[in-house]
Amino acid sequence: MKVPFFDLKIQYESIKDEIEASISEIFNSQHFILGKYVSEFEEKLADFCSCKYAVAVSSGTDAILAALMAIDIKPGDEVILPDFTFFATAGTIARLGAIPVFVDILPTTYNIDPAAVRKKITNKTKAIMPVHLFGRCANMRELKAISEEFNIPIIEDACQAIGASCPTGKKAGSMGLMGCFSFYPTKNLGGAGDSGAITTNDEKLYEKLKQMRNHGMEPRYCHKFVGGNFRMDELQAAVLVNKLPNLDSWNGIRRLNAMLYRKHFINNELVEIDTNEFTEKNKVIIPYFFEEDREDTHIFHQYCIRVKKRDELKQFLADNGIGTDIYYPIPLHRQECFSYLNSNDADFPITNQVCEEIIALPIYPEIEEPSIQYITQKIKEFYQ
Ligand SMILES: Cc1ncc(COP(=O)(O)O)c(C=O)c1O
Repeated sequence: MKVPFFDLKIQYESIKDEIEASISEIFNSQHFILGKYVSEFEEKLADFCSCKYAVAVSSGTDAILAALMAIDIKPGDEVILPDFTFFATAGTIARLGAIPVFVDILPTTYNIDPAAVRKKITNKTKAIMPVHLFGRCANMRELKAISEEFNIPIIEDACQAIGASCPTGKKAGSMGLMGCFSFYPTKNLGGAGDSGAITTNDEKLYEKLKQMRNHGMEPRYCHKFVGGNFRMDELQAAVLVNKLPNLDSWNGIRRLNAMLYRKHFINNELVEIDTNEFTEKNKVIIPYFFEEDREDTHIFHQYCIRVKKRDELKQFLADNGIGTDIYYPIPLHRQECFSYLNSNDADFPITNQVCEEIIALPIYPEIEEPSIQYITQKIKEFYQ
């Protein structure tokens, strides 16, 4: 059996007609930049995220960059972020000359450890940037308490978490000062190329972000501050507008797929209980299922398990036609480009371990139960 890591074609087939009609309308109008689809998408996205405003931009990376620029992050400022995330969370901070301050993650959620955040706050800390990794919200209750105590804004990197919510019911991107999203094609809401967005409830920031994405320009050819070309184009917005009404349903199916994995891992005696410790009866650590967090909505952008002999397992699965990926193999503090920060490797025990053990399995909405069963059986075969 062949099970690709993801398959975008099946989903496209189901909405092809609507998308092609919109694309053809744009080509006929020849209006490609900041037109009706961008405005419509912004309105619908803000509503979807329970936020007052959304600003559509050119990528998730540019969303984070523009958000940091909007609060005037400058050289020498410190921004706290998890050590375990996609590079863009840190790269954007460094590009502004600011200092990425890495902290370790929790072994249960792979999200930033609020206690570790507290320890890293200094008088140079200008923002805290939690990442809702793999589609599960970071502990925003504790992070918000820290943010309020020290009066430091939170910028949510919600690039992997559109539609996720916290146990309080609040949506990803609606809890910090700003939320940043990516619509990279393989995201739960994916465009036909690169695009992203920033959400906020702050009207002044909203106005500033709209200028920021267009070179800080307002009115035409007058520039009060330096921005960039961070605009989303109409073609991306048209694809996203057509996909957005399906997102809750696609996210729901991803959650069901995660439950199917759990069932088959238990049936195959690879998992006995929800735990983050390896034991004789827990050869696979699956995404932790909290009793008290039953109400949170993890949207399973990725379904990541932890295993021993990860690289050999990856090869074994590939030999059996199963696509997997590693998010992420190297902690940010060990990246060559951040060697100037002289981070202490011993400060990141969880990230260091998780980077060696983590592997992402296929979780796209269209995957079917026999494929999930096949994957778990092959994993059992490997550990026998
Ligand atoms: C956590 C995180 N932050 C930032 C980004 C950057 O988004 P983009 O690829 O759209 O620039 C991504 C995308 O992969 C991401 O997963």
